[in-house]
Formats: sequence, structure tokens, C-alpha cells
Amino acid sequence: MTKLGVNIDHVATLRQARRTYEPDPVTAACLADLGGADIITVHLREDRRHIQDRDLRLLKQTVFTKLNLEMSVAPEIVELALAEQPAQVTFVPEKRQEITTEGGLDVVSQKKTLTSLIKRFKERGVVVSLFINPETRQIEVAKEVGAEFVELHTGAYANATTETEQRNLLEKLCRGADLSRELGLRINAGHGLTYKNVGPVVEEVDAEELHIGHSIISRAVFVGIQKAVEEMKELIYKHSLLAKTDRQS
Ligand code: PXP
Repeated sequence: MTKLGVNIDHVATLRQARRTYEPDPVTAACLADLGGADIITVHLREDRRHIQDRDLRLLKQTVFTKLNLEMSVAPEIVELALAEQPAQVTFVPEKRQEITTEGGLDVVSQKKTLTSLIKRFKERGVVVSLFINPETRQIEVAKEVGAEFVELHTGAYANATTETEQRNLLEKLCRGADLSRELGLRINAGHGLTYKNVGPVVEEVDAEELHIGHSIISRAVFVGIQKAVEEMKELIYKHSLLAKTDRQS
């Protein structure tokens, strides 16, 4: 069954709005765990706009499922990540002005840097994933630089405004997933996924892990984190079963 990675950055965003101690993303991770989260994801940004170094340190000590750290290739962040050794790191592009991660990582132009970074993380037993657009060249180079996973960017699919556009972008994601599998890469997917649009991604892209943040934390404001995670898990379960039945018939 497709696994659920819950991104808890937005809990930290709320805390940083007042530079206080609440709400604590570490508590959020415990509640997400109770709701059935398979993975806890955080992005330690260079500007520390939400997750702080202390959060990463405590999450490393308290998350016993899988901790996935989204990060840029900035040397300071790399050294911190190597010191903390989360189970998995996902390299993402990072711009200070952006509201959230825009677009995938350009692995083609950063081939040399990524090759040596991935080697360092692998030597320490840290799994490496690359957040990329579902484009042939990016996928091929992701394999060449030694990544174990690619996380296919679902943002364009999520932002589609017509059914035709959404279908075309879903097919693009499926082609990207097929090529990744052929090359021996493992597949994650995420960005912009919601309770409404996650179904077709579960059924057709067939990723190992989906990483979802904003939609779950938004629902959690009203129903609580544990319930919001449970509801997303149920949806993923239902669509995973549908896909399995479909493949068997
Ligand atoms: N995957 C990656 C690589 C991301 O950068 C983000 C956003 O932090 C997500 C998944 C989750 O996106 P969303 O908050 O839109 O669900």
C-alpha cells in the first residue's frame, strides 16, 4: 500500500508567526504518528522560516517510523543533515522569496554537486530522494547521480484547472513513474495533493510514498491532526485497494 508522509512544516509556520513555543511540530509528529503517518517530513530551510534546528534534533530522537528531511544543497544545511542523519533526505530547490517549493530540482545542471553529495549521504546510510518534475532527462540524470528515490512533483497536476489538463498531467506523471521504474529508481510523489485530488495519483502513479502537508494541516485546524491523518490514510487505503482490484481483473 502507498505510504503517507505527513509534512508538518505548517505547524512550525504558525509557531514562528509569534516566535513562541507553540504549536510544537514535535507534538504534531506524535499525533500524526497516532493517526497512522508512515513518514514524518520536514523542510529545514536556509532562512529557518518554519522548522528550526532544535525541531530536527528532537524529531530525530522521537520519530521511530521514518524521518524525511527536505533540504537544499547549501553547505550549512548539508553539514547539519549529515550530523543528524535522518532516515531519508529529499533534495529540493529553494528560493528565499517563494511561498512554497516551486518546480522540481534541476538535477541536470547540478549533476556534479549531487553526485558527490549523494555519495556522502549514502556512506552514512541515509536514503536519498530527488524532488523533480516528471521529465525524461531529469529522471535519467537522477539515476546517473545515484539517487535511490525520485519524488515526482505533482504540483502541476494539482493546479490543473480543467479535467483534460488534469488527465494529461496525470498521464505525464505515470510516464515519469514508468521510466523511473524501468531505470530501477523508487518512486515517491507529492506537492499540492489534497483529499480531493489524491485518488487518481494513488491509483495510477503507484508511488511508494506520498508526501502531503498543507491539505492535512489545514484540515487538522478543524478536526485535529490525528483525525486528519486518519482520513487521508483511509483515502489512500481505499484507492490502493481499488487499483489492486483493477490490476487483477
Ligand atoms: N514534497 C515536497 C518535496 C515539498 O517541498 C512539499 C512542500 O513542502 C511537499 C511535498 C508537500 O506539499 P503540500 O504542502 O502542497 O502538500
